[in-house]
Amino acid sequence: MHQVTMSREEQIGLVKARLQQAQEVVVLTGAGISAESGVPTFRGDDGIWQHYRATDLATPEAFARDPELVWAFYNWRRELISRVEENRAHRALVVLEQTVPGFTLVTQNVDGLHRRAGSKNLIEVHGNLWRVQCTECARISVDMSVDMGVLPKCKDCGGLLRPDVVWFGESLDGRLLNRAEDAARACDVMLVVGTSGIVYPVAFLPALAKGKGAFVAEINMEETPLSPGLDLTILGKAGDVIPLLVA
Ligand code: OAD
Repeated sequence: MHQVTMSREEQIGLVKARLQQAQEVVVLTGAGISAESGVPTFRGDDGIWQHYRATDLATPEAFARDPELVWAFYNWRRELISRVEENRAHRALVVLEQTVPGFTLVTQNVDGLHRRAGSKNLIEVHGNLWRVQCTECARISVDMSVDMGVLPKCKDCGGLLRPDVVWFGESLDGRLLNRAEDAARACDVMLVVGTSGIVYPVAFLPALAKGKGAFVAEINMEETPLSPGLDLTILGKAGDVIPLLVA
């Protein structure tokens, strides 16, 4: 059932009704939810991967080859994200968490904006840009510095630090992925917001929820490869649509 022919009002009404009946809600977000805050997405006409090659900036090989370049990229993103604010969509999800009995927010975003907005039960499956990990002693710490410098070093052992994010070719944290999968299997309603739905294993979560009988609705500016398998796609900006769903 993929009801693109329903009016916008009918779509909103249907998702609202499902949310009101739900015991467990999962929201899966991607870069699109932060776009209205001014954080560039990865794909699309002005996406980061239109201007830079992921293989130069977001792989373990790129970091081994040229850690200065990779750190310059992450310092640029830190600076940019430090200047922006969470938006109406991030805030509406905080309200949703307070309204439904069970709520899990699974995000692919590393910008930390969901946490800044106040979301509590949050799984950051691709890591967090504001955390660093030592490549020698593996210690993970939070560092909110806007500029980490050219080649930041571990305060404990002097080893080179890396951003604590998941790069292409790396595995996700198994415990986090298990939690996300358990939540997807157990939910009554899943909202899939602002993700192109092409990066696995996260892109499998909507199908996992659907396979267990959940109602799965997508909110995106355009249809995605996930759309045909979901119950509903609401075309629009997350900041316009999500507040209407929780009003
Ligand atoms: P993408 O950049 O691939 O997709 C962003 C999606 O958001 C697109 O489908 C847009 O149509 C949609 N979009 C843009 N603006 C929107 C708005 N205002 N409201 C609603 N939707 C909007 O970002 P992700 O799907 O998050 O991985 O990318 C997945 C992963 O690929 C990222 O986590 C990152 C990236 O490379 C790693 O770094 C491992």
